[in-house]
Amino acid sequence: MKFNIGIFCLIFFFSAQSSAQQNIEYKLCDQDFRAINMRENLPANAVYTNKNATAEARAKDVISRLTFDEKLMLTGGWKQMHFPAVERLGLPPVYFSDASQGIHVKDICVKVGKTTAYPGIITLAATWNPELANAYAKSISEECRAYGISVLLGPGMNMYRNAEGGRNFEYWGEDPFLTTKFSVSYVEGLQDAGTIATIKHFIGNEQEFARHVVNVKIGERALREIYLPPYEASIKEGKALAVMTGNNFLNGFPGSADKPLVNDVLRKEYGFKGAVMSDWASSSFWQDKQEIELTSGHSLLMDNNEIFATYIRKQIKDHPEQKATIEKELEAMVLDNLYTFFKAGVYDRPYRNPALLSTFDAHRKVALQTAEEGITLLKNEDHILPISPSSGKKIVVLGTDEALKVFGGKGSGAVEGFDHIDFLTGLKNVYGDKLIYKKDISKEEISSADVVLYFITRPSGEGFDVDFTLPKVEDSIALISKLNKNLVVIHSGGNGFAMPWLSQVKGFVFAYLLGQVRAEALANIISGKVNPSGKLPFTIEKDFNESPAKDYNKMSDGKYYWRGGKNNSQEIRKQFGDREMPYNEGIYIGYRWYEKKNVQTQFPFGFGLSYTTFSISNISASSKKITIDKPVTITVTVKNTGAVAGAEVVQLYVSDVKSSVDRPLKELKGFKKVFLQPGESKKVDIKVDWKALAFWDEKQHQWKAEPGDFIIQAGTSSQDIKQKITISY
Ligand code: BGC
Repeated sequence: MKFNIGIFCLIFFFSAQSSAQQNIEYKLCDQDFRAINMRENLPANAVYTNKNATAEARAKDVISRLTFDEKLMLTGGWKQMHFPAVERLGLPPVYFSDASQGIHVKDICVKVGKTTAYPGIITLAATWNPELANAYAKSISEECRAYGISVLLGPGMNMYRNAEGGRNFEYWGEDPFLTTKFSVSYVEGLQDAGTIATIKHFIGNEQEFARHVVNVKIGERALREIYLPPYEASIKEGKALAVMTGNNFLNGFPGSADKPLVNDVLRKEYGFKGAVMSDWASSSFWQDKQEIELTSGHSLLMDNNEIFATYIRKQIKDHPEQKATIEKELEAMVLDNLYTFFKAGVYDRPYRNPALLSTFDAHRKVALQTAEEGITLLKNEDHILPISPSSGKKIVVLGTDEALKVFGGKGSGAVEGFDHIDFLTGLKNVYGDKLIYKKDISKEEISSADVVLYFITRPSGEGFDVDFTLPKVEDSIALISKLNKNLVVIHSGGNGFAMPWLSQVKGFVFAYLLGQVRAEALANIISGKVNPSGKLPFTIEKDFNESPAKDYNKMSDGKYYWRGGKNNSQEIRKQFGDREMPYNEGIYIGYRWYEKKNVQTQFPFGFGLSYTTFSISNISASSKKITIDKPVTITVTVKNTGAVAGAEVVQLYVSDVKSSVDRPLKELKGFKKVFLQPGESKKVDIKVDWKALAFWDEKQHQWKAEPGDFIIQAGTSSQDIKQKITISY
């Protein structure tokens, strides 16, 4: 099925309640926001009430008891953020919340008290410590369960393809291997503690520009090598129970009715049995094509199914002979939803577990560790950092209020948090009156400081992309650096940007978004209490024109449109009709692109400095040959050769010496973070299997590793390779 997206571009946005649901009213929660508990007086001996029966059998048993209206109702969301109840069968509503970095919802039917604003997902990725993702997600899950939320609308796992993407802070960077390791660990942590993970936005939603209408074009090989692997692993290994599709079109199919990818790949090939939900109101963008939802593999239209339900009712009225077939299709949708909730035990437990409120203090520690391990030191000339509090150095702080307070991204991923301390207060707590901050600071005060810390930010969020340049910052740095050479820039944000000023500053700290613990985390890094160990999960190019995504908001007529502005999808739709966004670079995303094109970047993927130094030596392989059933273990020795404790990330990249198809110069296929005391050394083992050598063969439609030699390279960034060894397949 292929259709022209233009037909569906005359679209209206609906947020009204579903007509399917107007027939069936149920109580969502009582006046005190206590969700109703309806598990009493259940039918005796029913399969669905039997905890020992399989999730599938229980879901089927419920379906056998549902009326047609109830079946229709259970294909849509209700009141924005939950799955409807079936009160007469004792099934309570199931509550949802955004998002990947903590709980966004406030009092949408469940009473949500304080929740932790965790550092952004991009910060978590910068730790290169996937075990931390497990603890981070477990903490969020405990907060969800404490308040009665059973489905988290995360983790997001789109790729950092485009430095201007407004939601990059919600994703894991530019590399599929890194993204996969983190997302699997996150999904496991979240679900093991009782909350369903929703992996999103499947697929091709790498930018906010025209996100509801644009037709993203991705070739088969790029889909298989870059965009699909995190989903495949999160489903097969992580056992993710829910998927959210993207708002965008992909290769001509609307995200929330993409049969080839959802039905054929996710469901048939990966065996995914859980709920596949649309992004909010997405299916209302093709009102006159609602029948495509029935067989697309989607099971849940969020945030409501009004348009779909109206279509179904009309269809059955006009063609009563179709009722049986349509009802079967609805049942298939409902089965996936109910299966998900039975599988996760949602219907077998009290809707919330208030005892978990006592775990929140421990969550602060996880948030702090994430922030500290994520902060990435990109420049440190003359060892300008750390600044010891006992040095007595006079420090001037500059920056806008926004830059001194920022802690998260905007939109559905935003989390309010509590007990906030801003950067300035955090530094004051450490440096006392040696720290100077004044709105009307004089030039003399700036030039007489021992160090100037200049805070910058570029806010980003859902619904708008951001520009690659920061002209005001450029002007300010030109001025400040003339007054004081000991200048350190501290940036909060989830996107790379142009830094023509880099040679004018001595220090540069990329702080991403640090959440509510930002002040303590940053002060610990600046003062040296904690040694930075973050590594960039994306490349920072010098000039956006060098990016593979440089034309992303130049439309097919060659015109260039500004990507800012919240409602640009609506405007674009009204003004311009069909739009395509071809990912022409194919598999060459991020460092794969810059290396292939031999473009010098500002900072390479995987880069990040420490206050100590490390050596990597003695590479060896457990065998010189990899076979399909026998991986090899690559071993290197990492030594802390400096004077303070710290952590290094050993990164393994694989290059195919000779291949029948064009391949990246190298690709990340393993990594490990190692903590070492001064002088200490450790052996690090990293397994490499045949799949790490393989590419997606578009002729055979499968993974293929070709016999021959492969060079395994161990380094501390994609551009700093320390050791190499050749193995064969
Ligand atoms: C966003 C999703 C989010 C949903 C519910 C949508 O606009 O794209 O990421 O989960 O809203 O808030």
